[in-house]
Amino acid sequence: MAELVRFEINGAVGDILLDRSWVNAINRDIHRDLLAVAEQVAGDPDIRAVVLYGGERAFAAGADIKEMVGLTPHEITSLGRTLNAAVTAVARLTHPVIAAITGYALGGGFELALAADFRLVADNAKVGLPEISLGVIPGAGGTQRLARLIGPTKAKELIFTGRPIGADEAVALGIASRALPADQVFTEALAMASRLAAGPTAALAAAKRAIDDGLDGPLSAGLEIEAEKFAELFGTEDARTGMTSFIEQGPGKATFVGR
Ligand code: CAA
Repeated sequence: MAELVRFEINGAVGDILLDRSWVNAINRDIHRDLLAVAEQVAGDPDIRAVVLYGGERAFAAGADIKEMVGLTPHEITSLGRTLNAAVTAVARLTHPVIAAITGYALGGGFELALAADFRLVADNAKVGLPEISLGVIPGAGGTQRLARLIGPTKAKELIFTGRPIGADEAVALGIASRALPADQVFTEALAMASRLAAGPTAALAAAKRAIDDGLDGPLSAGLEIEAEKFAELFGTEDARTGMTSFIEQGPGKATFVGR
């Protein structure tokens, strides 16, 4: 098996590291490795938050154009399926997922970053969906996830023009939480993930699911999901700990065990 996606464990944080030469162009081996790593994370109860990182030069410059050129609609459907399976596996992780972006996050690379819950960008970051300049459209969730994140008009402006944006604009549009010096992005993502990993795991997962699934449907369905998740949490040790700790010691003092 190719090893173009490495996985490292830092305490309760899992680091998913894209590791293909130069700009991490996303080929079918990355689809397979990314899916395998996402499944490993999903099955490991000791991992409580995730960082996605592509290295200093690029988070990822998109799908491998050299692999795609000349494919028929039938062939690209099959390739798109494996890419989307991998990206969706990341999006469906119950953990908080933070994408740490230095350099380029373009096309499928940006679409993978959009599958994270948060994006931290380096001041040298260039992010966007340039597929239109190749005569195609984003094919790994970009038309859907970007439009949901920043609204259809801004998403159309970025997708119709293919214009990459810098760190400040990414923050202003709500795509990125923060812009940082390039050498601080990965360590800050790890620190943020570590703080989240110390939280009540089931409650974080419930909040993520209620928000993500709720946005897929009508308000009434979202409110049902929320009510169901809210009730489920009363069966967890962390909910008992959190509320008892508040009564005995005041707010914000609970130590959660992740169950
Ligand atoms: N696929 C294949 N190869 C790529 C690539 C990609 N997405 N991006 C870069 N490369 C290759 C280049 O062809 C080049 O290879 P050679 O050395 O063999 O010539 C090498 O990486 C370095 O690239 P550049 O010389 O262009 O480096 P640069 O620093 O001048 O520019 C860049 C870097 C801005 C990332 C530029 O390479 C670029 O614009 N890349 C393509 C970005 C893009 O269009 N991404 C969308 C892909 S389509 C997609 O993702 C579809 C989808 O939705 C699933």
